Amino acid sequence: MADDIAQQIEDLRSQIRRHDHLYYVLSQPEISDQEYDRLFEQLKQLEQQHPLLITPDSPTQRVSGQPLEGFEKIAHTIPMLSINNTYNANELRDFNGRVAKSLETNDYEYVVESKIDGLAISLRYENGILKTAATRGDGNTGDDVTANVKTIKAIPLALLDNIVIPGILEIRGEVFMPNESFAQLNKLKEENEEQPFANPRNAAAGSLKLLDARITARRNLSFLAYATGELSEPLESDHYQTLEQFKQLGLPVNPYIKRAKAIDDVIKICMDWQNARPKLDYQIDGMVIKVNRFDQRDILGATGRAPKWCIAYKFPAEQAETIVESITVQVGKSGILTPVANLKAVQLSGTTVQRASLHNFDQLRRLDVRQGDTVVIEKAGEIIPQVVEVKKELRPARTEEFAIPTTCPNCDSQVRKDDNGVYIRCTNPGCSAQLKERLKYFAGRDQMDIENLGSSLIEQLVATQLVKNFADLYKLSTDQLVSLERMAEKSASNVITAIEKSKTQPLWRFIAALGIPLIGSQSAQILADHFGSLEKLLAADIETLEAIDQIGPIMAQSICKYFNNDKNKQLIEQLLNSGLEPKCEQKTSTGKLTGRIFVLTGTLQNYKRSEIEKMIKDEDGKISSSVSKKTDYLLAGENPGSKLDKANKLGVKVIDEKEFLNIIEE
Ligand code: IVH
Repeated sequence: MADDIAQQIEDLRSQIRRHDHLYYVLSQPEISDQEYDRLFEQLKQLEQQHPLLITPDSPTQRVSGQPLEGFEKIAHTIPMLSINNTYNANELRDFNGRVAKSLETNDYEYVVESKIDGLAISLRYENGILKTAATRGDGNTGDDVTANVKTIKAIPLALLDNIVIPGILEIRGEVFMPNESFAQLNKLKEENEEQPFANPRNAAAGSLKLLDARITARRNLSFLAYATGELSEPLESDHYQTLEQFKQLGLPVNPYIKRAKAIDDVIKICMDWQNARPKLDYQIDGMVIKVNRFDQRDILGATGRAPKWCIAYKFPAEQAETIVESITVQVGKSGILTPVANLKAVQLSGTTVQRASLHNFDQLRRLDVRQGDTVVIEKAGEIIPQVVEVKKELRPARTEEFAIPTTCPNCDSQVRKDDNGVYIRCTNPGCSAQLKERLKYFAGRDQMDIENLGSSLIEQLVATQLVKNFADLYKLSTDQLVSLERMAEKSASNVITAIEKSKTQPLWRFIAALGIPLIGSQSAQILADHFGSLEKLLAADIETLEAIDQIGPIMAQSICKYFNNDKNKQLIEQLLNSGLEPKCEQKTSTGKLTGRIFVLTGTLQNYKRSEIEKMIKDEDGKISSSVSKKTDYLLAGENPGSKLDKANKLGVKVIDEKEFLNIIEE
């Protein structure tokens, strides 16, 4: 029996590992997310019932429970070196000259790979199991970030044994944040009024240095392996073959790695990638050129902190110079004032840039950006343009420091600095600039998704006072819209239809659209799933909200504050009276079997096991593979075996197919 369970657990683990590898390393998933979740859930339940069988390399052990107090230190037995940089073809030729001279031959080849813009990490596998993970630190000693690294799904907790695995195998590579995850994270940060990360590298480093691995787990970091550290037995005699072996071990390796003999070929590969880099979904800041054979590397040796067998070719930073035509201050939906530099149009990595955010007034002061200044702009991770430098030497005479506003540039009301001292806000809840932003947000794609209700129409609706709050949108008529500029009958009626359609948007969109501080669409979905109805959410007290996984105390406070405000209560009332029917899409809490745990045994008569399992899942029941006190029903077919005995012993209700169908149809 015990062996049986142990075997089941191991089977599940190897299935899950295989699917992790297919999904995260090879990008070739074979099963749906739901099927994956089902396997994972089964494993989790089995392990809960048999905690002694939990091993550190189990896929369930990726996320640890408790935040750390601080990081321990790990000494690198083999130092983690840095790489010398070059910036042009001539410097690459010089490097090649030095290699040829030291090796006293022309018989060598290079491996050329991209220089990933993340942070270096050293993974220590002992007998194939991931034991520790350390940052580079000063090259000799790094931080122990094992708990965080284990949450990265591209990193195997146990290596595949397609080849003989050295007892001690240190794998080095780069942890990075893919562009899309970076964009999502920053969007969330902005929604939550937190400072966004400047680029994906900072975001990756920040995420890996979190003391709470549960947050790291949500950051979608990834990994590519590119070198070994300590090894108990050599794997291969050159770098290229080593990377091939990495693949056999289930480690993710850059698929675009190339070999080249002549330096001109190396240069060509570098230049090609300089242009092609936007095709990757992560950032690279150059190329790394490595002598392939290890015996030749030994001859070349190292100087100081960098090996002589390796060089980086750094891409020119994607920057541009332009002039600040003016600095304006935008008022956000919750009143935050943001300084924006309006720029003379300039091309930067394929797009025309005319504006750059200065983030906040502290940043503006630090850079001392002034109207008329020549500035260097850069795309943060090729996504948001920002001002990185002011060319003070080019500053025209008689410029003035930008005056930080003391009143709202839109409504002239008093402004106040937030307690954390970074943001300045307009304090007038009736400020029309805030209203415009709130309306844009309300109609936005991740909220009520009202097509055709764009910025310029919103500007007019607010200016003409046709709309003073969200509910007024639902009172608009085609005639009223036609009276506005650039509004023909047809487009007016399209707008009205789109507004009408939004009345049946699901609950989470409604919650998100309200623009409750700190509550973006993701949190709105969590709330909608949890409460299932607006009434229940409105009735929730702070303790109930705080108890929800992923809703922190500050978010809970913000939600309570919002729903306890009389004006907001009125607004919601008005929206509901206008015919909005926010309903929950999910039926999580409406399934007939919510919270019920089933175990199946024996041969079923009328249904396949998978069909029954699906019925249970559809009604939000759970399936466990072994009987315990927690089991609610044992569904027994013919020849049930030992599970029936156990159920009888524990007093678990035993049902047959017919009884099961009765429960479902009840
Ligand atoms: S090899 C001694 N390969 O670049 C060479 N490093 O500036 C060991 N990096 O600390 C590293 N992509 O974080 C290597 N394909 C690649 C790389 C790479 C990025 C980073 C690594 C290293 C830094 C040096």
